[in-house]
Amino acid sequence: MPPLRRYLVCEPRFFEVRYAINPWMRPDDPEPVDTERACRQWEALVRAYRDHGHTVETVDPVPGLPDMVFAANAALVLDGKVFGSRFRAPQRRPESDAYQTWFKAAGFDVHLPQDPTTVVEGEGDLVPVGGMVLAGSGFRTTPDAHHEVQEFFGVPVVSLRLTDPYLYHLDTALFALDEENVAYYPGAFSPGSREVLRRLFPDAILATREDALSFGLNAVSDGRHVFVDPGATGLVDQLSRRGFVPVPVETSELRKSGGGIKCCTLEIRS
Ligand code: ARG
Repeated sequence: MPPLRRYLVCEPRFFEVRYAINPWMRPDDPEPVDTERACRQWEALVRAYRDHGHTVETVDPVPGLPDMVFAANAALVLDGKVFGSRFRAPQRRPESDAYQTWFKAAGFDVHLPQDPTTVVEGEGDLVPVGGMVLAGSGFRTTPDAHHEVQEFFGVPVVSLRLTDPYLYHLDTALFALDEENVAYYPGAFSPGSREVLRRLFPDAILATREDALSFGLNAVSDGRHVFVDPGATGLVDQLSRRGFVPVPVETSELRKSGGGIKCCTLEIRS
């Protein structure tokens, strides 16, 4: 059995769509966010993690920070070292402090990007797999952050360019299945980046745009169980055929902000 994981999450108590920083967000949607429903979906996710033996810790949500539920964006944590975030959108910048407070209280030092123009949105754009970190750019995290991440962790960083505005974070287009392999949607990447992924992961699971737009690739795998949106039916089938166990968790309410399962989950790797 693969090792149990430690996850950090944040309840969507103050979740809403008040501003638009990706094409999913429509503040004037006639069907606005149902915050209670979002909380219920989030609770089901937490329950699913705990039912599979994983440790889930929570950071307190802050009123006025509606996107704080997307814990993945707060940092990348590897070997007990924390690389904190600097968000692109001014509306999300204050989230960094709230998460930093949690990390400090939990006994971690937090490294922050040195240059004030560097943008880095944590595991949203930084995916550890196969002894390296895959790093997205194009919409949020800037390429200079990729260099800094490599320098900080001493782990090779592979830069990938995202090109589809609906799949604006790397974790909306790709996830790590286990220590070695990934699932991704090739059309979300520039031609060169697609070629890099093909060389690095010849046995990857390739998903369709439809599955990606159902946030199927915004999944969390513990190496065996894959917590995944049930709407990504093609991907769910492929996972089963490869011997993974899909655990369906619905996050339709969070999708109104352009988020899903993985966005809500920051892994603490020690
Ligand atoms: N509304 C948020 C934003 O646009 C969603 C973040 C989703 N997070 C993720 N890890 N992809 O920043």
